[in-house]
Amino acid sequence: MHHLIPAPLSVDTPADAGSFALDQNTVIDAAPGTEGVARLLRATVGAATGLPLDPGSGDGRGAIRLRLDPAAADELGPEGYRLDVDADGATLVGVTAAGVFRGTQTVRQLLGPEAYRRAPVDQDRTWSIPGGSVSDRPRFAWRGLMIDVARHFLPKEDVLRYLDLLAAHKLNVFHFHLTDDQGWRIEIKRHPRLTEVGAWRSRTKYGHRASELWDETPYGGFYTQDDIREIVAYAAERHISVVPEIDIPGHSQAAIAAYPELGNTDVIDTTALSVWDTWGINANVLAPTDNTLRFFEGVLEEVLELFPAATSPFIHIGGDECRKEQWKDSPTAQARIDEHGLANEDELQSWFIRHFNTWLAERGRRLIGWDEILEGGLPAGAAVSSWRGYGGGIAAAEAGHDVVMCPEQQVYLDHRQHDGPDEPMPIGFVRTLEDVYRFEPVPPNLSPDAVHHIMGTQANVWSEVMQNRARMDYQVFPRLAAFAEVAWSALPASADRDFAGFERRMTEHYARLDALGVEYRRPSGPLPWQKRPGVAGRPLEGPPPNV
Ligand code: ACM
Repeated sequence: MHHLIPAPLSVDTPADAGSFALDQNTVIDAAPGTEGVARLLRATVGAATGLPLDPGSGDGRGAIRLRLDPAAADELGPEGYRLDVDADGATLVGVTAAGVFRGTQTVRQLLGPEAYRRAPVDQDRTWSIPGGSVSDRPRFAWRGLMIDVARHFLPKEDVLRYLDLLAAHKLNVFHFHLTDDQGWRIEIKRHPRLTEVGAWRSRTKYGHRASELWDETPYGGFYTQDDIREIVAYAAERHISVVPEIDIPGHSQAAIAAYPELGNTDVIDTTALSVWDTWGINANVLAPTDNTLRFFEGVLEEVLELFPAATSPFIHIGGDECRKEQWKDSPTAQARIDEHGLANEDELQSWFIRHFNTWLAERGRRLIGWDEILEGGLPAGAAVSSWRGYGGGIAAAEAGHDVVMCPEQQVYLDHRQHDGPDEPMPIGFVRTLEDVYRFEPVPPNLSPDAVHHIMGTQANVWSEVMQNRARMDYQVFPRLAAFAEVAWSALPASADRDFAGFERRMTEHYARLDALGVEYRRPSGPLPWQKRPGVAGRPLEGPPPNV
């Protein structure tokens, strides 16, 4: 009905429902607490329609009424909304401003794809919202997208645009992968070399690491602290939480290139390292020293100031793919293992994680990390991003940890979308729109307690083969629309999902994406300029695992 994506919980369209016609006199009647939602609705729909949508009481005039109703908490939860439309206007009710904001995204879809443009394309057209009622609430509290801005930098303007795209799909978590071997992307005042040195590399592998090609253009970029504040505030206006990721103790070569004392100086000459110019899992990891702990406490102090607790309760510390060879060879690391009575290098990694878990908890934040942080033992309160399949998430949830399900076999959007030869720089498994639509975040046979620990799900986008926003759009869309429905809507079991019905609704959604200027993959495959002939990827074989 109405081609809404993600599908709402319930829609009622009586035969005599009529519609609400918007015109020059239509006002937005915003109750206290919804002023910010009204402002964004006016900015977006006002621009697209050319209508003033002035603030007003709506007495005797058509109005879009925004209302808060705390008594509807049982029905709607913190992010749900109810929308009632008749000839006199549209009334949107939520328990919180976040719920009302999600509802405005439904209003925008009901106005038609042109409501996603930034200026009217037809001065004579009329605008109306079909009559009836929508009652809606999300299945999961955590509905996220992770973007890797380290391998390739996504300029601030593009990050803001992605926040708009998340909002349009009722997603509410932006996981911001800010640091990696190939680049440090966030200004840290007390350690300026992190961006002076760590944000730049002299050249870049073009394609998968097995590719012969290099792009010899010096490459880089970072967000200033004001850029970060702007991004966080922009997200907050859209009721999106930002989870900054500072990856430790692996994925740290850019930091070590900037400050060689952070590396295992008793094993290699860390002064010879530069920001990494190719892809893979890097052996140059942080040294487990007090100096490293103090350094990253300093980094995180600035991170906590930039990402306030209200909108960033979780801080991601990475923890994935930390190779242990240097620790095995390092007398300093081995002495640390002995000093703390640790069994092995896994427990040394766990020692890092425990330190920052306590440090963050003392400051009112929660640590989240990739599922490797389970190895060597995970402290209470830490949460897990389950990426190597469901296994880590199952183990973590059964042990009482909160979990975000983001298995690489299912929701890594850098993986290719088709097995055809024309996919640009194809890497990973074939994961079609339908595969993503059938992804089920909650594995079967979890104990009831563990089910409550599945906070939700997110799609992850690693950017090794995405040099710019167009490449990212191609990988992310249209699959993010399917993912949004998985995360938001009350879908049946995977096999029973109506993919044909979703595809029919996608017809309208493609028109929305066109209006938004999203360079999605067409169902027919890449357009000529979306191909990258001759640039090697690394396709993998295998169906998505059944849960
Ligand atoms: C990951 O994909 N290394 C989290």
